[in-house]
Amino acid sequence: MTAQLSKKSEAWSARFNEPVSDLVKRYTASVFFDKRMAKADIQGSLAHAEMLAAQGIISAADRAEIERGMAQISAEIEAGQFEWLLDLEDVHLNIEKRLTELVGDAGKRLHTGRSRNDQVATDIRLYVRTAIDDILELLHALRSALTDLAEKNADTILPGFTHMQVAQPITFGHHMLAYVEMFGRDAERMADCRKRVNRLPLGAAALAGTTFPIDRMRVASTLGFDDVCHNSLDAVSDRDFAIEFTAAASLIMMHVSRMSEELVIWMSPRVGFIDIADRFCTGSSIMPQKKNPDVPELARGKTGRVYGHLMGLLTLMKGQPLAYNKDNQEDKEPLFDTVDTVVDTLRIFADMAGGISVKPEAMRAAALQGYATATDLADYLVKKGLPFRDAHEVVAHAVRACDGLKIDLAEMSLEQLQAYSPLISDDVFAVLTLEGSVAARDHVGGTAPAQVRKAIARVRAQLAGEA
Ligand code: ARG
Repeated sequence: MTAQLSKKSEAWSARFNEPVSDLVKRYTASVFFDKRMAKADIQGSLAHAEMLAAQGIISAADRAEIERGMAQISAEIEAGQFEWLLDLEDVHLNIEKRLTELVGDAGKRLHTGRSRNDQVATDIRLYVRTAIDDILELLHALRSALTDLAEKNADTILPGFTHMQVAQPITFGHHMLAYVEMFGRDAERMADCRKRVNRLPLGAAALAGTTFPIDRMRVASTLGFDDVCHNSLDAVSDRDFAIEFTAAASLIMMHVSRMSEELVIWMSPRVGFIDIADRFCTGSSIMPQKKNPDVPELARGKTGRVYGHLMGLLTLMKGQPLAYNKDNQEDKEPLFDTVDTVVDTLRIFADMAGGISVKPEAMRAAALQGYATATDLADYLVKKGLPFRDAHEVVAHAVRACDGLKIDLAEMSLEQLQAYSPLISDDVFAVLTLEGSVAARDHVGGTAPAQVRKAIARVRAQLAGEA
């Protein structure tokens, strides 16, 4: 019995009288998902071994053996030849077992002064850190693609909406730059989250630290961490950094989803503001005329699963007493799926932005409906001395008349307009045009093409600074 057991789970078997059932083994194992962290696990082990040798806790020869073994394991994993065993529970035990097969006692010494608890916390942090760096790069690409689109359309006019009702004319460049701002804040958030991810748990061991004379700062610097986690109990147990990452990822998806909603509406034939390149759309198996914006629709849908992961992780943590509990093993799948979803979505969107073609005539026609320049007429009257509330009232009457006549404000004759206010003279027509309306909003943050160009220059300088 004992022999059989120790074959199954060498890491902790000696104390047990009977083997775990196959169901329990499957239930408690994580190897089939946490093997994704293999690279981080090996990286962490090498840094740990380097420190153990430098501190004289293991010999230089042992360290060299560990390095040799790990190099071979990395190659095996890379080549898809590494044999992952459910019996060995997780990525850590699988790699350690193989190491011992390859290099003998040196492999068995690797775990000195370390526990899987601080090991796994280190692996996840390394994994999330890489994910953040990838996401920052993708956000950069997306912001840059949207800025290109904004530049091409700095003068393209479309209706801006509030309550989904035509509000005021805006430029499409300005509209795209709104998303550039959102994704810019997302990048700031990710970069900020990275600071708290980038601290080293290793050295906390199981929960209380270790009796060996370790050098945690040395390991931190080898692994590129900014600092160590300063409390061992906290180091092994909290996953707030993963929650924070998922929250930042949720906000990215929220922004992607808002944009997706607009793309779907704009591509609807009833609106027809844009077209999306065929490679991002699919047809229908029954309706031959269809070209569906599947990518934005799916992105909108996938946003929900990332929100779900955020809620899952928050709930995972809330009832856990200090320090490590096995509950924490459940942090990985939501985290990995969040990374996959955000990375794939951003990659596609950065590419798709270049595949959006704008239809300025349709945008313009829509802006000409719905009295988009009514506010301009009110502002005009204010500039002629009328208090704003009175001006608002005057224009409301004029709009109502236009509604009856089925014409736009700009199509009224001077006499017709003057019937609503004697302050109106023939200079009014300049402010009633779409071009006049957008050009007049010429201040920081406004929609005027001149401001859009300034904003583009500002964003480009920012992007260049980040690259
Ligand atoms: N697979 C575990 C996890 O993902 C590793 C740590 C397990 N530690 C332990 N004492 N059971 O969290």
